[in-house]
Amino acid sequence: MDKQLDQILKSFESAIKGAKTAPQLEELRVEFLGRKSGKLTNILKGLKDLSADEKKTIGKKANEVRQFIESALSASSSTQSTIIPHTDLSIPGIAPQSGHLHPRTLAINDLVDVFTSMGFMVYEGPELENDYYNFEALNFPESHPARDIQDTFFVKNAVSRKEKRELDSKKWLLRTQTSPMQVRLMEEFEPPLRAIVPGRTFRNEATDASHEHTFTQLEGLVVDVDISVGQLTWTLKEIFRQFYKQDVEVRLRPGYFPFVEPGYEIDMSCVFCERDGSYCKICKGTTWVEMGGSGMVHQNVFVAAGYERGTYTGFAFGMGPDRLAMLKYGIEDIRLLGENDLRFLEQF
Ligand code: PHE
Repeated sequence: MDKQLDQILKSFESAIKGAKTAPQLEELRVEFLGRKSGKLTNILKGLKDLSADEKKTIGKKANEVRQFIESALSASSSTQSTIIPHTDLSIPGIAPQSGHLHPRTLAINDLVDVFTSMGFMVYEGPELENDYYNFEALNFPESHPARDIQDTFFVKNAVSRKEKRELDSKKWLLRTQTSPMQVRLMEEFEPPLRAIVPGRTFRNEATDASHEHTFTQLEGLVVDVDISVGQLTWTLKEIFRQFYKQDVEVRLRPGYFPFVEPGYEIDMSCVFCERDGSYCKICKGTTWVEMGGSGMVHQNVFVAAGYERGTYTGFAFGMGPDRLAMLKYGIEDIRLLGENDLRFLEQF
């Protein structure tokens, strides 16, 4: 038996050298220590037939062999588990993807910064508006073409009949401009008032490189007792100067908007070209770009908002952050702003 133990030990020692993987080690464990017919287990089972003296010496040795085998197996399996095969630690890592702000958001954020530094409050208004705020309170005559079904997305009411009657009386629509917020703001605040309203606006138009059915506007409103066109011009010029980080010219051309009198189209000197009349993809060589509409608030609008006629003066303007962003970044087609094409967005 003594010899058998020596043999077991020897054969184990040579076998463990060849065992590399966890299944091989497990195989060895079963071969030597397996409960049913492990080589060492069999010896231990035979101990009971020995004399008391032999039991002492052989038993002791058999135990030592068992301990040796056990610890050798567990040592091999622990080194085994720390070696992860085929890991090349020199391979460069995968950089996490980071998000981008949309150029439209970048433009609005910049504009908000400039306006708040000049003391303007920032408001948002409902995109689902009604005829009263979008048109009527803004002095749109009943027959004005902008009310026409061509330009406005009217909203069908998917509601109960009782609610429908109430809603119908208001005629719901997707706001075609941010100007309805002029009236909502004046209903809420007393002058002096300085506020801007950035937001989405909607028009039922065919889309092309410079028209979208969904676009953004930024409304501005200043109301006090002695507001002049000069202040309007200065404010616009200063806003553009800070937004484009360069000096610009602003030109007001007569324009018609029912809620201002007088009304103006805002032109800004092109910031994209040398203004020498040669071809420019933004101003088409005219050296001016249209930036939006503006004017002095019509007294009818003050009255609709609940101010007494003749008490206040004010100016209002509406510009397109989409357009401002296009001019800043040299984007030629407004449709790119709504398409969510990553090849475009990742440039910002
Ligand atoms: N709301 C007008 C438009 O969408 C722009 C505008 C705003 C004009 C404020 C005058 C004053 O065309």
